[in-house]
Amino acid sequence: MLRVVVMVSGGGTNLQAIIDSVKNGAITNTKIVGVISNNKNAYALKRAEENGIPEKCISPKDFDSRDAFNKKLLEEVKAFEPDLVVLAGFLVVIPPEMIAEYRNRMINIHPSLIPSFCGTGYYGLKVHEAALERGVKVVGATVHFVDEGTDTGPIILQKAVEVESGDTPEILQRRVMEQAEWKILPRAIDLIANGKVKVERNRTVILP
Ligand code: GAR
Repeated sequence: MLRVVVMVSGGGTNLQAIIDSVKNGAITNTKIVGVISNNKNAYALKRAEENGIPEKCISPKDFDSRDAFNKKLLEEVKAFEPDLVVLAGFLVVIPPEMIAEYRNRMINIHPSLIPSFCGTGYYGLKVHEAALERGVKVVGATVHFVDEGTDTGPIILQKAVEVESGDTPEILQRRVMEQAEWKILPRAIDLIANGKVKVERNRTVILP
């Protein structure tokens, strides 16, 4: 059984997709053992609570220094003894100690087709604003392992979504979630839970 901790900052629709997929059997061999948020008002915490999943809020605001916050964050993640850490809209820079501890055991969902519209400053709605500003006709989402860079780790799954005329950043964000994020994030977890993802240097191989 793959023990998964999900880290969130906001609405938690990706968390919901994971919860639903575990319930309906689209994700097998997996237990969500905890949810951690940096934001006490995150609706994601409510989703965890409603589904009987232990949740914790660890806010940088409650600590004197970033180091103290980072230390506590790692401590709390470790306490759940996860095999896999899932960043599902977790908008906090991951401390280097945590990246090292969970190398090839921590994944992130990013709302673009990496390497487009990713890296520092590209998160949430900003990604979709930039895509519309550039006028691209195809966007999408990526699930990748987390390494020391921003959105640079080995790519596990990607899914493309078409831009439509009249799209606003909000409309496009919603379509990317519905058509890509809520599908590939659960799918990636199921693949990992069933030993189907191998990392070779900075790439992944998906086994049949
Ligand atoms: C999602 O669109 C996710 O891809 C994005 O934040 C949103 C969270 O929504 N993540 C990033 O931009 C990370 N760089 P949710 O809380 O409803 O799952």
